Amino acid sequence: MPALRLLNVTKRFGAIKALDDVTFEVKDREYLCVLGSTGSGKTTLLRSIAGILHPDDGDVYLDGEKVTEISAEERNAVYVPQTYALFPHMTILENVVFGPLAKNTSRGIAEETAGRMLKLVRLDKRADAYPNELSGGMQQRVALARGLASGAKLLLLDEPLGALDGRLRLELRTKLRKLAKESNLTVIHVTHDQEEAMTIGDRILVLRKGKLQQLGTPYHVYNRPEKIFVANFVGNTTFLEAIVKTRSKEGSTLRLREGLTVRVRDSSFETDEAVILSIREENTSIMPEPKGDEPNRLSGEVTAVHFLGSFIRYVVMLTNGDVIAARVPIKEVNTEINKGDWVSISFDPMNTHIYEYPTLGLQGELEAN
Ligand SMILES: Nc1ncnc2c1ncn2[C@@H]1O[C@H](COP(=O)(O)OP(=O)(O)OP(=O)(O)O)[C@@H](O)[C@H]1O
Ligand SMILES: [Mg+2]
Repeated sequence: MPALRLLNVTKRFGAIKALDDVTFEVKDREYLCVLGSTGSGKTTLLRSIAGILHPDDGDVYLDGEKVTEISAEERNAVYVPQTYALFPHMTILENVVFGPLAKNTSRGIAEETAGRMLKLVRLDKRADAYPNELSGGMQQRVALARGLASGAKLLLLDEPLGALDGRLRLELRTKLRKLAKESNLTVIHVTHDQEEAMTIGDRILVLRKGKLQQLGTPYHVYNRPEKIFVANFVGNTTFLEAIVKTRSKEGSTLRLREGLTVRVRDSSFETDEAVILSIREENTSIMPEPKGDEPNRLSGEVTAVHFLGSFIRYVVMLTNGDVIAARVPIKEVNTEINKGDWVSISFDPMNTHIYEYPTLGLQGELEAN
């Protein structure tokens, strides 16, 4: 039985559909990351599951039981809000023991659990402080410890690491997943950080404008994005407008603007159909000497070079005016390539995807809001 099931859930605020016909299931003990840009409905989703908000349409089920009309207090779920919501007049320890005590756990056990959770978030030494004596990131960690200590089986975490700096964020996300697995918790963890979602989620759910775009394992979502929006959101991708020229069992040939030709592995679109070709930046190679235009080996001029830690990103304008980007690990770069150089760009047909041409055009499809 799934731990959680949403069936056609819609939530409106006036004219805005914050959730639009959302249906999915979360397995018992699964760690699900919800990924979406600002305003996509992530908080509304968690609040609807927690019972703080009630959907206009559709139903929420917890452990097989319909809870749509049941209050938040009666659901075995804890919501850790984006805004922490600590009790200002209580110490950190009192904030964290509050949940277990409310469930009639003995003081000794509640304090022992609270102590462990505060240690996990590295705040055990501040147990006697009051929330307003802590930094924003510390308050966020207290809120997380409070959620973890509550004893609820379903944890709803709203950007739980959002206020933390890089190193602590990396440390806590690993600990969080480990603790959830050891304690048999089911977790829904909201983030707008693609890497965080990929690293800790058993599965990832991508939301856009209140609509579920894709739900799958990080591997699946990354390698088989079902929509242009997802391909753009979970990776660094070039999109080019194209027309299908020929198709066969092995794949298709596409015509880019000005007659440039590209081979792709997908053969599901009809000849003469308008499509969008997508190529991941890391699947694109760049060579300093242009060899002229051949299928999947296109020459162009470097218009920008960006150093990104262990990668270099090159932006290249092809002879037809289309722009394509390549991301190359620095250790694989043998020759310096600069802005203004002519290069050839190539990619394997196996590493391409094609999508139906969107009714709103490419730009409309890429916009998050
Ligand atoms: N109480 C409310 N009243 C009116 N509109 C609301 C309310 N709560 C949310 N909305 C609207 O619903 C949409 C989704 O909001 P939500 O807070 O769920 O987004 P989010 O994905 O959590 O964004 P963020 O990443 O910024 O936290 C937004 O357009 C927001 O303005
Ligand atoms: Mg939010």
